[in-house]
Amino acid sequence: MKDIILETKDLCKSFKRPGGTQMVLNKMNLQIYKNKMTAIRGKSGNGKSTLLNILAATMMADSGEVLYGDIDLQKLSNAERARYRREKVGYIPQNLYLLDDRNVFMNIALPLQYSGEKKERIRKKVEEVAKWFDIKYLLDKLPQTLSRGEKQRVAICRSIVKIPEILFADEPTGSLDEENEQLVLEMFRYLKKQGTTIVLATHDDSVERICDEVYYIGSYGK
Ligand SMILES: Nc1ncnc2c1ncn2[C@@H]1O[C@H](COP(=O)(O)OP(=O)(O)OP(=O)(O)O)[C@@H](O)[C@H]1O
Ligand SMILES: [Mg+2]
Repeated sequence: MKDIILETKDLCKSFKRPGGTQMVLNKMNLQIYKNKMTAIRGKSGNGKSTLLNILAATMMADSGEVLYGDIDLQKLSNAERARYRREKVGYIPQNLYLLDDRNVFMNIALPLQYSGEKKERIRKKVEEVAKWFDIKYLLDKLPQTLSRGEKQRVAICRSIVKIPEILFADEPTGSLDEENEQLVLEMFRYLKKQGTTIVLATHDDSVERICDEVYYIGSYGK
């Protein structure tokens, strides 16, 4: 059974450039199916991160609709968009966005704090995901002291510490070695079993292979 959870209709997004505008998404129509894993593929610069940002309501499109059920995310107020992000979405951004003035524990704990969980429960959950990704030894450290791969695992832990309804992952295996890449893929399978819908931008064929749907963006060639 394939139920649509997110859908775009005639979605357009352009950016201003010196001397003109650059059209990145041009009347895009896309369906994301509930509880499936969808890969967004396309050459660098074709708009994968832009699309993920719009679907996660961290960026506004210029025109078109982004339907979550019968709600158009584009028409919501800022507060309602923030609520959608907080309650429905997990996000692993391409550039990770860890907070440098908080240690790893506090970074991972962030989504749980936002939803008002009790301290003891936060500690238990953070330690659980940190153990899974083998980063318990990093919990007291500040993000700027970590390697790129370690930061990536922290960002992944933060996005799944509260099992999200929809997980957006932008090049989630980009800086990881084979072993950690396998851990991430295993984590995606686990989340899917819990009912999460996963949308990921990837250049990685082994990630695409485990996806149910593949969507090519722009002109695509390898
Ligand atoms: N905030 C912004 N302001 C101006 N231009 C932008 C902005 N964000 C993205 N762009 C431009 O839009 C295009 C699409 O960028 P995007 O990051 O979505 O591509 P991508 O497919 O994710 O690429 P990659 O595979 O390298 O991550 C690029 O040409 C980029 O320079
Ligand atoms: Mg990108």
